[in-house]
Amino acid sequence: MKNFSFVNPVKIIFGKDTIQQIANEIPQGSKVLMTYGGGSIKKNGVYDQAVKALKNFEWYEFSGIEPNPHYETCMKAVALIKEKGINFILSVGGGSVLDATKFIAAAACFEDGDPWQILSKGAPIKKALLFGDIITLPATGSEMNSGAVITRDETKDKLSFASPLTYPKFSVLDPTATFTLPPRQTGNGIVDAFVHVMEQYLTYNEDDTLMQDHMAEAIVKTLVEEGPKALENPMDYNVRANLMWASTWALNGWISCGVPEDWATHMIGHEITALFGLDHAQTLAIVLPGVMTVLKDQKSKKIQRLGKEVFGIQGENAIPETIKAVESFFEKVSVKTHLSDYGLGEEVIEKVVDRLRNRGWKLGECHNITADTVKEILTLRK
Ligand code: NZQ
Ligand code: ZN
Repeated sequence: MKNFSFVNPVKIIFGKDTIQQIANEIPQGSKVLMTYGGGSIKKNGVYDQAVKALKNFEWYEFSGIEPNPHYETCMKAVALIKEKGINFILSVGGGSVLDATKFIAAAACFEDGDPWQILSKGAPIKKALLFGDIITLPATGSEMNSGAVITRDETKDKLSFASPLTYPKFSVLDPTATFTLPPRQTGNGIVDAFVHVMEQYLTYNEDDTLMQDHMAEAIVKTLVEEGPKALENPMDYNVRANLMWASTWALNGWISCGVPEDWATHMIGHEITALFGLDHAQTLAIVLPGVMTVLKDQKSKKIQRLGKEVFGIQGENAIPETIKAVESFFEKVSVKTHLSDYGLGEEVIEKVVDRLRNRGWKLGECHNITADTVKEILTLRK
């Protein structure tokens, strides 16, 4: 096991009827900006509950944060914050609203030129506004981590950052807020959380991190058992609660302690979203089986372990059968797994490979996934 240090300062408030508790978590006297997306929170009553909880605060709202949030949109919120003297942000929505909020919180305090440099150059964040969230889509784990992914619409660059200053102060996880998720977003969330675990578990053949491996398998088993039930029965509270907690755990830092991490599937996926507009999880469902196939020797022990522990697969064909089982699981939760399912083909491969070649990245836990390897991976996924 590698050396590590670990801290996670996020206060989780979990369960039914918990949204009103934000009134006690936001510092008294704060001027609050509520950030949200395209209006789903107005249809499921979450907006009304948040408004009620904010009744003793001076507050403003900023709506229209799009999925795969844009830097350009975030900067409009930064202007509003400066104009009104806002000092606390409340994010209400999915991972996109929360990621945008993290960037807005940092950009509003950034004094070293254009805040885009936080993403393009890893410019240090020296200060950020405090923020909390009500998360309405279990998927990204953004509610309990310090990372965010932002797209510059002008250049189609989708880049990420993380900072100790961009952990939410609190996150409210009310599973009833997820009852209204359409099947596409329910499935996306399950696939995203599944792949987050794979990025931290399905790596080269070390086998000395038993605790982390068992925890990773517990998260994935929960997704595999409960995911299809959420699609059949969207208003089953216990199913939604299990999925919500599993998604948070998939990327809150615990299972990455002391282990190698991959993230190639995500990096390739981000380029596909930025260039062709697919949902984040759709790109992951396409790419992961390709990564598993091309890197099957490097990852053989962990693929076999995943097969045995999660899908009950053993025997001499365990590796291809496990890859197939992962693909079938994605399809079962209604996320398609080939480029052609989305009307795409060769043009994606060329553009993504070119972009990665230009970026000069070497991806994966062994930094051995070059642009040529990506071509091999995507060619399998037509
Ligand atoms: O905009 P509204 O109207 O709110 O609708 C949203 C949006 O259209 C809708 N939605 C959310 N909650 C709902 C709901 N509809 C009905 N009922 C509800 N309860 O769902 C749509 C998608 O929302 P979005 O926030 O975009 O989805 P998600 O949470 O999957 O976030 C995806 C973004 O997170 C980034 C992705 O790259 C992508 O930009 N990621 C962030 C990570 C992190 N911060 O750690 C890690 C991830 O790997 C990921 O990269
Ligand atoms: Zn993800």
